[in-house]
This record gives sequence, structure tokens and C-alpha cells, in this order.
Amino acid sequence: MKEKKAQPKRQKEVELVKVENIKIHPLVSEIRSQRKTDMFKYTLDVNGQENPIHCVIRNGEVYVFDGCTRVAAGMEVDHLDELECIIHDIPDNQIMDKRIRLNQTSKTHLNEKCFYFEHTLGIIGKSQGKKRVLMGFDKIDEDTNFGDIGKDIYTIACHLTGLDLSASTARRLMYIYWLENENEKIKALGLIDKINANEISINKAYGLLKDKKMKEDKKAQRLHEVAQRETITGKYKLFNKSAFNLDFIEDESIDIAPFSPPYPDAMKIYRHQDEVKHGQEKTTEEYIANGMKACNEIKKKLKANGVMAVIINESFKGGYSSVVSRYEIALIANGWEIIGIIQWIKENPTPVRLNEFFQPADEKIIICKKKGGKPYFSHPVKENAGAGEFTLKQSHKSKDGDLRFYVGGDEIPTTNILITPVFNRSEFGDIDPKFKHDAPCPFAVYDKILGAYSRSGMNYLEIFSGSGQGLVSAMKHGLDVIGVEIDPVSIEFTKKRLDHLINERSKNSVKKLAA
Ligand SMILES: C[S@@+](CC[C@H](N)C(=O)[O-])C[C@H]1O[C@@H](n2cnc3c(N)ncnc32)[C@H](O)[C@@H]1O
Repeated sequence: MKEKKAQPKRQKEVELVKVENIKIHPLVSEIRSQRKTDMFKYTLDVNGQENPIHCVIRNGEVYVFDGCTRVAAGMEVDHLDELECIIHDIPDNQIMDKRIRLNQTSKTHLNEKCFYFEHTLGIIGKSQGKKRVLMGFDKIDEDTNFGDIGKDIYTIACHLTGLDLSASTARRLMYIYWLENENEKIKALGLIDKINANEISINKAYGLLKDKKMKEDKKAQRLHEVAQRETITGKYKLFNKSAFNLDFIEDESIDIAPFSPPYPDAMKIYRHQDEVKHGQEKTTEEYIANGMKACNEIKKKLKANGVMAVIINESFKGGYSSVVSRYEIALIANGWEIIGIIQWIKENPTPVRLNEFFQPADEKIIICKKKGGKPYFSHPVKENAGAGEFTLKQSHKSKDGDLRFYVGGDEIPTTNILITPVFNRSEFGDIDPKFKHDAPCPFAVYDKILGAYSRSGMNYLEIFSGSGQGLVSAMKHGLDVIGVEIDPVSIEFTKKRLDHLINERSKNSVKKLAA
């Protein structure tokens, strides 16, 4: 005997009764029309009984009043001796009422219909790929497309199963049905049950799964990308030059260009600065004008879909001077489009005592693109509680009163807020304990930008590259990097770091090959 499918939980006790002992209740046999038993026979035979039949007991005999066709079919299935029955304790005058109410809920389960549909189409036992070709999944949305099966068989299958569906909806239904059978997580969503109970339409359920599948594919791609970048050893170029003329870099060759300009208002003194002395300007206007000159140089080097990110600090020297707001306005005036601002909140800001204001603890990261650019963006996510589970969640009701659902996943998008400590000397490793830099950015800042706007193999440019924190991060992300820095001491240190990184990576890949 074939193994029965797991039965859904019933609300009432179910009893097993020998098929030959079940009689049709006289009240029902009077009005009952003879229905085809083929479909019930087939699914009972292969799938087992999906829904119990409903009976009463009279003089010790079992009488079915709902599920008569199943009894008739059961008699014709060789190995099926017993049927699951729910025995109701009701008088005869309530039987028809009960039958009507049951008929609203206990029609053939959609799972049975789907199975029978597959059978009628003649695709059972074929591979998933073949099934899809036969059913015309290449043009899933076209109602005039009946795949290799052809319109006639489609129509017959719809008729026999009572699935009065267009070809496109039938394909969507089978998409859901197959996914439920293949994937336990999807099955747990219970979409077929919900369609069966009229709680969600086939098209909406299909939309949910498509959306979920798209996210899953993206996740797989992202994980692949992360795994791949571990083994990539990119190239680097360092230029000990001023960032105000980037003629030595090929035009439109760069995908991503983050930088942190020298702090305004001479907050820090940098080594070996050129005549521009960026950061030492007397006014905020001059500081921003020089900043724009640097940004314009970057613009020439960026590809059409490239991204520039300015990591910039506010200044309170001589009073608040709206550096960040003015920088944003100047960027827009200079033809940049601002995609958004990341707020970097420092967990352990350097203590500063201002006369009339709090301890400042933030910087901004202005993410910009060229006009009309369409940058690469991989939505950054973090693990959600209950990771690994798919759950069908109900959101608000739609205007037409329909229930709305979405598939909760194991990841949630991260926000534009980055909370992280400031740079820690340990990030330099033990390359050169004597090296000092006034304003290195922590790796976490670069990782936030790179994790979203870059993928391995891209070209990275950083002007004002300082200690090389950004260049190291970008190489770890699998990018080819270019650094431009006026201070030869910083350049020398950065070179040591990048060589060290490349060395470590090649040692690791040799180890991996040997393993
Ligand atoms: C805020 S720091 C950048 C720190 C860097 N983000 C890091 O993590 O180490 C600014 C850097 O700009 C450099 N700099 C100043 N004027 C420059 C110029 N005209 N061209 C290139 N670099 C310059 C300074 O030497 C300093 O290293």
C-alpha cells in the first residue's frame, strides 16, 4: 500500500470506517447527482484521503451525508479499505443544513486538485525543468501560451480538476504547489491552504513567493560575492601628489570614490601640504570652494554610474559654521545628485567642551552620484531574530478589505545610521609602530559604504587617502584601488600596509589550495 500523505490537523475527532460499511444517507441519495469518480479515485489512490467524509450513525450503521463521491471512489480503489469519517451527532432534520455548511468548507482540497492537474497534463515524474518547459513557464504571464502541452490538454485538465483557471494563473498555482512540495520553509507558509480557504488569491500568493525568491537569490549572490572577495587580491596604485589635479588617472575609470577631506578651520595640521593648504582656509566659503575643486576632479574620473562619498565633519571653531549643509548645497550647485546621507554616530567621541552646546559625536557621509547615474547598490541587511524561518505575516487590510500578507524573512535592511567607535590604533596592525596620523577613519565607516555600493573587481579611488584605512578596506572587498595623498610619510606607510595585505592573501590562497 502506498504511503499516505501527512493529514492536516482536523478540528473534530476522525474515525476510520471500513468503506464497505458506509451507506449513503437516504436524504442525500434522493438529491445527489452522480459525479465523476476519476479524480477522487486517482488522488485517493496516490495521495491518500485529504479530507474526511461526514457521517451519522443510525441503528449502528454509518451513513455518509457529505463525501458520497469519495465513498464511491473508495470502493473502486483496491488497497483502500477504510475511510476517515467524522461522526456527527445530529438528527435527520439537521442533515441538509449541515451538508450545505460543510460544502462551503470541505470541497476537494486544492492540493488534491493540483496533483490531479499534474497527472492530467501528463507531467508527473518529469524533472522540474521539463515540467516548466511543458507548461510554458518561459512566458509565464501570457494567457495565450500553453507551452508544449498545448491548449487542448490544458483545457481538459482544467475541466477535470474543476480548476477554472487561465493558463497563466494555472502556471502560477503550480509554481506555488511545486515550491511547497520542494521546500519545507515555503510549505510552512501554508499558501496552498490559504488559497484553498479563499484567504489569498493565487496571484497574490505567487507575487509573495516571487518577491521572496528574488530576495533569496540576491542573498545567495551577496554571500557568493563575500566568499569570492576573500580570495581576490586586487591591484593598487599610490600617488604622492596633490588631489587638486588628477590628470594622472584615466577619465571615467572609477566606480567608487569615498574620501574624508582635511577637517575645516585648521582643526588639524597635516604634514607636507601644498599651496592650497586645504583645511587651513580662513573662511568656510574658501574651504568649501576648494572642496568643490577636489570633487570636480573626482567627477572627471568617475564612470557614469559611479558613486562619490564625502565623509565630513562639522566645525564649531568660532561658532557653528554649517559646513555639512553648505557642502551639500555646493555639491548640488556643482551638478552632483545627492543619494542620501549616512549619519555616523561615534560611540566614543574625542572629548570637546563647547561653551553653549553638547559634546559633538557625529559626522556625515554624503553619498552622491553623477546626474542621471544609476549606481550599483546592494541593499545592506542584517540577521533578523528567528533567522532561518519564513513566516507569513499579515499587514493592514487593503482598501477593498482584502487581507494583505508578506513573507517575513531572516534578514532586515540596515538603516542609514552607523554607530561605531572612532579609529583605534589596533586597526593599523603592527606594520610600523612609529607611524602617526592625525585623522584616520575607522574601517567600519568604509565597510558601510563599500558593503552597499561596491562589488569585487570594481575600481576604487580615494583622494586624501591618509593612513590608507579606506584603501585597505577596499582591497579586502576585492577592489582595485588608487590612493592619492600629499604626505609622503602616509604614502610610505600605506604602501607597507597594502603589500602586507597582498602577501597575507596570497599565503592564504596557497594554504587553501594545499588544503
Ligand atoms: C582627514 S585626513 C584623511 C584620513 C584618511 N581618511 C584616513 O583614514 O587615514 C586628510 C588627508 O588629506 C591629506 N591632504 C591634505 N591636502 C592634500 C592635498 N592637496 N592632496 C592630497 N592629500 C592632501 C592629508 O595629508 C591627510 O592625510
